[in-house]
Amino acid sequence: MTLRIVFCARETTAQVWAEALRVALVREGVDADVWPRDAGQAAVDAHAPQADVAVVWRPPAVLFEEQRHLQAVFNLGAGVDALLALPGLPAKASVFRLEDAGMARALSEYVLAAVLRVYRRFDRYAVSQSQQRWQPESLPARERYGVGVLGLGVLGATIAMTLSGHGFAVRGHARTRREIAGVDCRAGDAEFASFLDGLDVLVSVLPATPATRGILDHRALARLAAGAHVVNVGRGAALVEADLLVLLDAGHLGGATLDVFAIEPLPADHPYWARRDIVITPHVAAETELEPAIEQVAGKLARWSRGDPVSGAVDRERGY
Ligand code: GLV
Repeated sequence: MTLRIVFCARETTAQVWAEALRVALVREGVDADVWPRDAGQAAVDAHAPQADVAVVWRPPAVLFEEQRHLQAVFNLGAGVDALLALPGLPAKASVFRLEDAGMARALSEYVLAAVLRVYRRFDRYAVSQSQQRWQPESLPARERYGVGVLGLGVLGATIAMTLSGHGFAVRGHARTRREIAGVDCRAGDAEFASFLDGLDVLVSVLPATPATRGILDHRALARLAAGAHVVNVGRGAALVEADLLVLLDAGHLGGATLDVFAIEPLPADHPYWARRDIVITPHVAAETELEPAIEQVAGKLARWSRGDPVSGAVDRERGY
């Protein structure tokens, strides 16, 4: 039986990606009919052909009015918050997300660059330079420089290992206990405070779920070391933006590097824009790369179509 697949993804050239998926499915031995649907088209097409499966990235809500027979939805990203928020997402369809597909390396690179910029005092040298001051800064010992990674899935674990490989004192935190060589792993609510205590850099890789919303509030951030830096590459909803600003203004926190925000694009009047102690990047820390993403989705689709177990299945209650 031919599997019918609709491809609907913003920020992609749909024709190119759909063709790449078609080719990858042939390689996987899956007989499939793949067609692109314009993600920018907000009106329902009452005559749209019906698919068994949708491959999506931030699709318009009308996709699920149009497609009434979907059995599975494959998300072309790690975060499924935007997808799960769509009211029409069929309750009976299985949802799968990307697990690494090149993102772990990209995120590790971004976080390492941010940590090294802070650790090697580039921010302070920029200030000195603006004042024409020749001012050497002392470096803390890296084995006592505490960097914490919040969220230890495939992405967080790779980031933690990368930082550990650079000799930093790396702590990690997840809901359940993880074992990662060279990383001091804490687990659950009971160990959240001790995870945060005295960290020089906190890196959040948390997805947006009911349990993570606002978890990085004044109380949590106040536990970090004086002058600490916050890096957010997960989702903006985890961080209470007003609390971050209060602690920066109070001088308790030294700065932040933020790739994700409560509202994206970051609104023009947002107070972050004007700050010298916040580095803003427009949700680019790990973009989905065509080849590894399509290869992974094709592999998952092949297993799903044979009825085999598929990793990256989303628990809708948990939200990731
Ligand atoms: C990017 O933010 C993703 O969720 O893949």
